Amino acid sequence: MIVNDILAGHHARVLAHVEAVLPHADPARVHDPADDLGLMREAMIYAMQGGKGVRGALAFETARLLGVSGETALAVAAAAETFHAYSLVHDDLPAMDDDDLRRGRPTVHVKYGDALAILVGDALQALSFHFLASIDDPAVPPGNALVVLQRLAKVGGHLGMGGGQWMDLSAEGRPPVTVLAHVETVQRLKTGALIEWSATANALLSGAPPAPFETYAEAIGLAFQIQDDLLDVLGTEAEAGKAVGKDAGRGKATFVDLLGVEGARRRAQELVDEATGALEDFGQDAEILRELARFIVTRRS
Ligand code: IPE
Ligand code: IPE
Ligand code: MG
Ligand code: MG
Ligand code: MG
Repeated sequence: MIVNDILAGHHARVLAHVEAVLPHADPARVHDPADDLGLMREAMIYAMQGGKGVRGALAFETARLLGVSGETALAVAAAAETFHAYSLVHDDLPAMDDDDLRRGRPTVHVKYGDALAILVGDALQALSFHFLASIDDPAVPPGNALVVLQRLAKVGGHLGMGGGQWMDLSAEGRPPVTVLAHVETVQRLKTGALIEWSATANALLSGAPPAPFETYAEAIGLAFQIQDDLLDVLGTEAEAGKAVGKDAGRGKATFVDLLGVEGARRRAQELVDEATGALEDFGQDAEILRELARFIVTRRS
């Protein structure tokens, strides 16, 4: 499928960029025969490998549509994917979802230990701000770059992914949630916020009207987590590359719980229609972004 090839190409560029900005420690200077910093660098790269790269692809493709420079697009894509990788490393920790398998391989804490996994997550999150703060593009007014940076800070905070993850974990062991709006809030915060950021950052940087991207991004952000919840029920570990069938046992509040499989599928499809419709004015130029929206609800991993 063409979307897979596009995703793989974009993700390879992000990985190369991340590796390039992570310096090797100088062993002569740190007097570190065990090369602890080398191991941390290796673990950070390990955490970045093997993802689909959806958030990076959203950044690259919105940049292409808006004529944002390749270098700035790469910075936004790398920021999105390092931030996302951080979130997964922490999400898998024993104190959170306690998962051993991610992207078809042992999770970072299983391979490198809990302490290094926590620090790898911290460092990857910091790296995403480094990428944004390093944007040096005459077409990007510094004020716009600051807004985008500030929005990413919000994504990470209690009114973003941090808060959403906490609400998600807090639902465990409580009576089942029966209010759809509550589940929507959790999903928007824990997953939607970063996806929205990834798909709107280039409009904000370049000063293009953000409205169509906001509508598109909000819809696919929610659709993304609905499909993730569906895969937890319907998917296989081999295809997904991570454990499945865990959400119900843990008492997670998911769309599938509230709407059933068919209801969740219908809602996801409605959201994709909303997303593709939002980019109508861009015509054929936005076809890859529309394909990405469709991919989000048909993916098996
Ligand atoms: C999984 O995200 C976690 C969620 C936010 C639902 P992805 O499905 O994008 O994970 P990778 O990066 O492709 O492994
Ligand atoms: C993860 O949601 C959301 C973030 C990492 C912010 P899940 O816990 O459902 O993701 P998976 O299923 O482990 O990938
Ligand atoms: Mg989780
Ligand atoms: Mg998880
Ligand atoms: Mg999940």
